[in-house]
Amino acid sequence: MTVAYFSITRVFLFIVVIFGVTSLSCAAIQPPASRQKLKVHKHLKRLNKTPVKTIQSPDGDIIDCVHISNQPAFDHPFLKDHKIQMRPNYHPEGLYDDNKVSTESKENDNTIKQLWHVNGMCPEDTIPIRRTKEEDVMRASSVKRYGKKKHTSMAVPRIMPKSADPDLVNESGHQHAIAYVEGDRFYGAKATMNVWKPKIQQANEFSLSQVWILGGSFGEDLNSIEAGWQVSPDLYGDNNTRLFTYWTSDAYQATGCYNLLCSGFIQINNNIAMGASISPVSAYRNSQYDISILVWKDQKEGNWWMQFGNGYVLGYWPSFLFSYLADSASMIEWGGEVVNSEPDGQHTSTQMGSGRFPEEGFGKASYFRNIQVVDKENNLKSPKDIGTFTEQSNCYDVQTGSNSDWGHYFYYGGPGRNPNCP
Ligand SMILES: *[C@@H]1O[C@H](CO)[C@@H](O)[C@H](O)[C@H]1NC(C)=O
Ligand SMILES: *[C@@H]1O[C@H](CO)[C@@H](O)[C@H](O)[C@H]1NC(C)=O
Repeated sequence: MTVAYFSITRVFLFIVVIFGVTSLSCAAIQPPASRQKLKVHKHLKRLNKTPVKTIQSPDGDIIDCVHISNQPAFDHPFLKDHKIQMRPNYHPEGLYDDNKVSTESKENDNTIKQLWHVNGMCPEDTIPIRRTKEEDVMRASSVKRYGKKKHTSMAVPRIMPKSADPDLVNESGHQHAIAYVEGDRFYGAKATMNVWKPKIQQANEFSLSQVWILGGSFGEDLNSIEAGWQVSPDLYGDNNTRLFTYWTSDAYQATGCYNLLCSGFIQINNNIAMGASISPVSAYRNSQYDISILVWKDQKEGNWWMQFGNGYVLGYWPSFLFSYLADSASMIEWGGEVVNSEPDGQHTSTQMGSGRFPEEGFGKASYFRNIQVVDKENNLKSPKDIGTFTEQSNCYDVQTGSNSDWGHYFYYGGPGRNPNCP
């Protein structure tokens, strides 16, 4: 028995040695392309958790229903012993009632859905995760950069302090049309925005509409939580409009990512997949479809929660991911952002929002309505002293207003390249 055991061990060791040597020598002579492939496969294995159930979406996505305790967040060393919070302690729209929420979402059956729902739903105790494919990672500049924003993304709508980098203002062709508030402590923000499918001129550009929850100065340690909809051919491989989130605690450098593409966000919801397509989208002079996004801080536990629509509490970013946002946000931005890579040396024709200017108004231009902030007392409040910012108003613009129905709102967006934006 013992003898057999030893000999098996020895054979095993022998195999390990041979295999080790072989794989080492393989690595040494492998052409760069296949070494890259190995790296990609390792990354995919880390990202794509073993599903309980798999749903094929009509848009080509694969949605994996992964057990809630097996999600990417728990790869984080700080979350090894984390007890998942299944509901927030506080909700800015009043104490949160599971029954009320589920009837509300049923009543809202005519609102926007995710495309993959037509082919099934994820069971309880699982969360839907959009499976990352090899080609998704291959489109990124490197495995490390996959799922991360390439450049500073928030708008810097104010006179920069002298010490800050002036290049930030026009950072790498990112262009914005936003409304914002600053100079207070914010504990969340809410908005309802209509959803479009803007045209993207080329794959390395994107167009998005979102809320930014910002903390800190606009230096290397900026904290940001972002959520909204986006079209990003590089990230997803198509031109579909998708729900997304983003976070960073070091100004888009080493920390953070889109959706669940790194460990951080803890999802509790089994209906909504981050990064999955949403439909229908609004049409010019036709039906308008909008989504609501609410991000707020549970001031008891410190976590930042996110809700989509009227009843889908998606999950939370644990407080420890952040420095400034561990306390509160110092600025909120709402609006659109595109990448202008200046193809052909001209301004990009990538659209923001509906691709129309704000002047066109309802049914044509894109909007954010009922924009609100969460205060220290955990109440939703109308924002005060709303500012607006755009780098080039002839390309993309923004116009605010207020009325009793829509509270504070703004129209924003534009076509990009046009006779006044060459
Ligand atoms: C996305 O749209 C652009 C034109 O705006 C088109 O050239 C490209 O082929 C589309 N990509 C996909 C994957 O459909
Ligand atoms: C950004 O760059 C554009 C041209 O590339 C320029 O017209 C615009 O004034 C710049 N905006 C700011 C805020 O510096």
